Amino acid sequence: MTDGDLSLGVLNGPNLDLLGTREPQLYGEVGLDGILSALEALGKELGVRVTAVQSNHEGELADWIRDVGSRQDGMLVNAAAYTHTSVALRDALLAAGVPFVEVHLTNVWAREPFRHHSLLSDIAVGVVSGFGQDSYLLGMRALAAHLRPGA
Ligand code: DQA
Repeated sequence: MTDGDLSLGVLNGPNLDLLGTREPQLYGEVGLDGILSALEALGKELGVRVTAVQSNHEGELADWIRDVGSRQDGMLVNAAAYTHTSVALRDALLAAGVPFVEVHLTNVWAREPFRHHSLLSDIAVGVVSGFGQDSYLLGMRALAAHLRPGA
C-alpha cells in the first residue's frame, strides 16, 4: 500500500451472504468471501484498498454509507433487492456524495420487470450488470480509472 492508494467501499445488500448456495444457476458458485478475495487481489494490482460490508437490513446499510462509505474515495454498490425499492439508500448515497458504481451479478434487464428499475442507476457513475463476480472486478477497474483520470 502507498499514499497514492484509493479507498473503495464495497456494499452488499440482502441475501448476498448466501452467494454460493443461493440459486447458483443464476448467481454462480462463488461465495461472497471469494468475491471479496478477488477484489482484494485486484486492489493490490491497482493500488486500491477495500472496505466491505454485507447486511440484510436497510438501516444498517444506510448507517454504513453515512459512517464508512462517505469517507472512501468511491464505492461499489450491490444493494441487491434494495436497488429496486430503497429511497433510504438512494438518499444516503446522495448525502455521502461519493462516486459509486452500481454492480449486479445478473443482468437485471433480462429478468422480471420489477428488477428493470433501479433507484440508484441515475446517481451512479455507471452500472455493471450480468457478469457474475466479474461485475465487481470490472466495476473496480472502471471506478479506479474514473477516480484517476489520465493515469
Ligand atoms: C442482484 C439483482 C437483484 O435484483 C437481486 O434482488 C439480488 C442480486 C444481482 O447482483 O444480480 O439480490 O443485485
